[in-house]
Amino acid sequence: MSLPAHGLGRDDVLAQLDAFKTNDVRWREGRAFTLAYSAGDDVVAIAEAAYARFATENALNTDAFPSLRRIQAEVVAAVAEWLQAGDTGAGFMTSGGTESILLAVKGARERGRKERGITAPNVVLPTSAHAAFEKGCYYFGLESRRVPVRADWRADVAAMEAAIDENTVLVVGSAPQYPQGVIDPIEAIAAIAAARDVNCHVDGCMGGVVLAYLGRLGHKIPPWNFAVPGVTSMSVDLHKFGYTSKGASVIMYRDKKLRSYQTYATDNWLGGAYGSSGVLGTKGGGAMAAAWAVMHYLGDDGYLRVTAAARRACEELAAVIDATPELTLRAQPDTTLLAFGASDPETLDVYAVADALWRRGWYVDRQGPPPSLHCTVNAVHDGKIAAFTDDLRAAIAEVKTTNAAGALGAYGTVE
Ligand SMILES: Cc1ncc(COP(=O)(O)O)c(C=O)c1O
Repeated sequence: MSLPAHGLGRDDVLAQLDAFKTNDVRWREGRAFTLAYSAGDDVVAIAEAAYARFATENALNTDAFPSLRRIQAEVVAAVAEWLQAGDTGAGFMTSGGTESILLAVKGARERGRKERGITAPNVVLPTSAHAAFEKGCYYFGLESRRVPVRADWRADVAAMEAAIDENTVLVVGSAPQYPQGVIDPIEAIAAIAAARDVNCHVDGCMGGVVLAYLGRLGHKIPPWNFAVPGVTSMSVDLHKFGYTSKGASVIMYRDKKLRSYQTYATDNWLGGAYGSSGVLGTKGGGAMAAAWAVMHYLGDDGYLRVTAAARRACEELAAVIDATPELTLRAQPDTTLLAFGASDPETLDVYAVADALWRRGWYVDRQGPPPSLHCTVNAVHDGKIAAFTDDLRAAIAEVKTTNAAGALGAYGTVE
């Protein structure tokens, strides 16, 4: 693309951008079971309005923008309450789950190096832990020691314990893990880490907000947060079940000392003292302000309501999958994520089912092994499951007739 020789009018520019979206998944209508979340058009609107107000402000230096220092402090304080981080909890806002996880990995490496002189660090984590940990190990030069999960998809703590050695700097559990939506045995994972005084990160990117409210809605929730001794850090994505604009997550530590290992400072250049809390330098204020706005707009009762809606829709969908003979649920959902495969993979290709669903306007994630489809069910899906069910059944019937094969595709792309 080359630039127009003369600048276009505002309306023309915006109309072109709107036109680009023509073939995008219609997430506002609940057609996306991944990637985008909505607790209603009013919530999206307030997030967008707040984002626009702070899109140019820069949290790299909050001396110049005390507004953003305040916004970050208030958002982090609210998340600390959700996570039961107590008075000592210390965190930062980041650009997303991946950045939060990268920082947890970097912080653990740094602590291992400074406190124990570890030069060849490793991370012990279940095969279900998010790909961002792999990325963190790759970026920061740690060995990733993946440990197979149990038959119920939860972390095998005994096997994890056996994988720990004197160079282990981080042990990981998820609440819940993404692929099958189940919560790892966090108490047991934290205990094996604490016994060796090693960092323990609980990935609550998907569950951090949901679990804080599911318990209060009367669901039985296993221990999952800082109330568990030995948990040293957690990640919680506000741009997922916090229902705010993209670019907002929180990395939380049990205390400031643990947090200190993630920050970076240098004066080894001609530009003077430079410090940053996370991976980014310039840090846009838009996503931070949107998070603050949505959290205050929804409030505690709003989060109870939208979490109940998401859970209701998830339970409804799980029941539909259970009642569909061609499909098998990988696990009963612990929160609001579920995955399912074909009861007989020889006769039904679930990736072809995903293709047929997409032709009908529904977008689901494809994953494996084993070949599965994955749904991140959020508040927007409440009341939409019946329509999805009709198209799911039609998609299965179509694939059975045509014997179509589909492709795994990718959870994220590199283009
Ligand atoms: C459990 C879990 N952790 C981390 C992430 C990464 O988050 P992000 O895509 O915001 O970087 C995800 C994303 O789906 C996730 O499900």
